[in-house]
Amino acid sequence: MTVRVPAKVNVQLVVGPLRDDGFHDLVNVFHAVSLFDEVTVTGATGGPDHLEVRIEGASVQGVPTGADNLAARAVRTLAGRLGIAPAMSVRIRKAIPVAGGMAGGSADAAAALVACNELWQAGLRLEDLMEPAAELGSDVPFALLGGTAVGLGRGERLSPLPVEGSFHWVFAFADGGLSTPAVYAECDRLRAAGTERPPAELKVCAALSEALATGDAKALGAALSNDLQPAALSLRPALRRTLDTGRDAGALGALVSGSGPTCAFLAESAGHADDLRRRLAAAKVARSAAVAYGPAPGATLISPP
Ligand code: C5P
Repeated sequence: MTVRVPAKVNVQLVVGPLRDDGFHDLVNVFHAVSLFDEVTVTGATGGPDHLEVRIEGASVQGVPTGADNLAARAVRTLAGRLGIAPAMSVRIRKAIPVAGGMAGGSADAAAALVACNELWQAGLRLEDLMEPAAELGSDVPFALLGGTAVGLGRGERLSPLPVEGSFHWVFAFADGGLSTPAVYAECDRLRAAGTERPPAELKVCAALSEALATGDAKALGAALSNDLQPAALSLRPALRRTLDTGRDAGALGALVSGSGPTCAFLAESAGHADDLRRRLAAAKVARSAAVAYGPAPGATLISPP
């Protein structure tokens, strides 16, 4: 069973206070984009607990292939709930950057849940997969759902948001990743030092939801915001130049994607996105850059059809 699963960019990320459980309360407006990983699961011939993971792709350094791979954990979580032996071979074709702030690991976990549900003919519905997904990580439920949605709590309590048409994006990939817990910790540190302030309120920006609902790219570009951006820039100051280069090249909006270090740029059209991508590549402010559209569908079975 092969499942295709999208990356995400956060078009608004409001980070509230640190909770007792080590997570932050969020208002997280997720937007799925057309950079896809593909996860294939096959019944393994080894023993009942034989679970192997193979990763393919251009930049896959740092992805664990052992038991702590998030897709492998997803297989074990679902197998445990269904009382099935997790004997499985998992192949992940990665296009989503690793530790890039685009929820690639979460996407692979979501894809593994959908693929195993099919392979084992478990008949679970999307709603049934949401709880194990949330157990695996705050961003996993959204990778199942796709589209555009606001996530409350840790980001796992989702409500879809209406979107008109498509938006055109360019993503600038950095060399090396950033650790999500380290970026949240830096956000806390900057707030404790008084350099940054916590948000006045935890709510979706009205101009942002209006821009999404009406397909107004210019208004969306102006409304993009990410409370983790100062922390990501503090840990990776070179990203400032990447963002400035995209803005100077005419992006409607520019921001760090999630905890970074990928930078996202909103374009007026597909042609404008191509042009922006070329300019970012020529300026050598990123390892590489790619165009994508959003919203994209969530984890989808692509074979067998
Ligand atoms: O849920 P997930 O495992 O993806 O979270 C990774 C880390 O990101 C957490 O351990 C925590 O440090 C941070 N995080 C947070 N608040 C959230 C989501 C994640 O502090 N709402």
